Amino acid sequence: MSSEAFYELGADSEVAPQVQLGYRYPGCREPARIGRRARFHSGAVVYADTVIGDHFSCGHNATIRAECTIGDRVVILHGSTLEGRVTIGTGVKIMAHVYIPSTTTIGNMVFIGPGTNLLNAKLPMRKAGVQGPMIGNHVVIGGGVTIGPGVTIGDNAFIAAGAVVMKDVPPNSLALGCPAQVRPLPAEFGAGNDPAQIFGGADLWDQRPNPEPWPEGFDPSAEA
Ligand SMILES: CC(C)(COP(=O)(O)OP(=O)(O)OC[C@H]1O[C@@H](n2cnc3c(N)ncnc32)[C@H](O)[C@@H]1OP(=O)(O)O)[C@@H](O)C(=O)NCCC(=O)NCCS
Repeated sequence: MSSEAFYELGADSEVAPQVQLGYRYPGCREPARIGRRARFHSGAVVYADTVIGDHFSCGHNATIRAECTIGDRVVILHGSTLEGRVTIGTGVKIMAHVYIPSTTTIGNMVFIGPGTNLLNAKLPMRKAGVQGPMIGNHVVIGGGVTIGPGVTIGDNAFIAAGAVVMKDVPPNSLALGCPAQVRPLPAEFGAGNDPAQIFGGADLWDQRPNPEPWPEGFDPSAEA
């Protein structure tokens, strides 16, 4: 395969050594396209045929495979994997060591806690066909959560740490435990995620402020 660069990268981006953008795989067609002000830490890999918006922040050894579509202002921390054909909206924060299988869709302003696993096959190695979870807008998924194949998580739902969610969760609900039990979302959990918390302060080792913060109260879901 050619070693020629196979990506387009927007202005004011920072790419550490040992980052691979536009990884070529057999049959790849288009370069990886990444917007402006992206930041890649060492070891990150982005496949060809993936499109990423502006202000992307990517941790060490994150792997983003082919045919992913990722919106603006998305943060993916170290060791996380997007298996390809994953769609992610705007203002999404994915913590470290998260696994996202192909055909998953994630809305705007979603938080996914560390070590969470999304799944896309109900009877793996027994029955063909995959369907990843469908995550709405303003969802919080805690650390160490498992979400089953084809499960829909409604807008503004909150999935407690360690939950195993194999059935749909309606909007504005709280899901806890294994198997997850669903309750109405307590009022104190709020009515949505705060865009101001996506960048800045969350990474002990990179405290640089985002140069173009969102206006206070901005909600990308409202723009969609
Ligand atoms: C869901 C959550 C917010 C609940 O916190 P809380 O309101 O302080 O909960 P409480 O300690 O008051 O417990 C309320 C009830 O929920 C249960 N509960 C709380 N957290 C639970 C969890 N993660 N799984 C299952 N049950 C849980 C408690 O046992 C208690 O049950 P009861 O009403 O039968 O007595 C919290 O457990 C959680 O998961 N936060 C997310 C943390 C996270 O993953 N962060 C990621 C970034 S690092």
